[in-house]
Amino acid sequence: MKGLILAAGYGTRFLPITKTIPKEMLPLGTRPALDFVIREFIESGIRDIVIVNSRRKKTLEDYFDREPETEEFFFRNGMESHLRKIQPPDAQLYFVRQQLMNGPGAAVLLVREILGGEPCVLAFPDDLHIGSPPLTRQLLDVHAQTGNAVLALEARPAEEDISRYGVAAVRADTDPLQVTQLVEKPARGTEPSRLISIGRYVLTPEVFAMLSAEQDQHAHGEFYLTPALNRLAQSGRLSGCLYTGERLDTGQPLGYYQAAVRVFLDDPANGPAFLRFLQTVVAERSEGPDAG
Ligand code: G1P
Repeated sequence: MKGLILAAGYGTRFLPITKTIPKEMLPLGTRPALDFVIREFIESGIRDIVIVNSRRKKTLEDYFDREPETEEFFFRNGMESHLRKIQPPDAQLYFVRQQLMNGPGAAVLLVREILGGEPCVLAFPDDLHIGSPPLTRQLLDVHAQTGNAVLALEARPAEEDISRYGVAAVRADTDPLQVTQLVEKPARGTEPSRLISIGRYVLTPEVFAMLSAEQDQHAHGEFYLTPALNRLAQSGRLSGCLYTGERLDTGQPLGYYQAAVRVFLDDPANGPAFLRFLQTVVAERSEGPDAG
């Protein structure tokens, strides 16, 4: 199965850095955020990966390419560990440019032929998953059981505002969960459940057909996947995967900071010292005049 990553967005929440550095290239430790999603795919058995980017994001392609001169230098000087660090991932990457940023539905249709009428896993790279099994693997298991398109679902507490997500209604007592409706960005108080859909999907060829059918009605503005997914939901062909593990939204500054701290703490060489530093900072802030 192929993987698809939509990475053409503007990254306005991270201006001004995103004037020149795509948000997918913002570092989490020594690796760009996008690298973590590529690894999630590879750990889930996906090695053909299509990345939709834009003309402002040339560094994405460069990052995943080989660096023959640098490799040669490291090789000649016996710098094995450096050599290992710059190896591209063990996957075949295909880059496609989206010329107009008119939503995920349009981006998926753009690469429909490349996906070859097969099911695929779609990732929005803002959503970083931490945990085992990898999120993509969990979705693929639900797809293997049902043959359906699959949403990654997460239960959020009643007091939280979830109006910036797609929110799923599910049929009670189904396992895997059967999704009956997906409401895109419901106003507060109108949510069909507390189950938000996050940026991982298994898309089936039916989704591509239904996106084509919907396309003309969305000639202006953002063309979301949601209307096509709802058509599947109505015929019982959409499943939900209430996944395990932690998700961080690196598309928002707060989620990005949180993800970065997690990655820093996991660094075997510097993590323990960084933890002591954090503890000192927390203690200082707790004692400060604004504490409490
Ligand atoms: C998209 C989807 C939405 C989903 C969200 C997850 O919205 O349309 O259903 O909940 O991603 O991040 P966007 O964030 O692109 O507006």
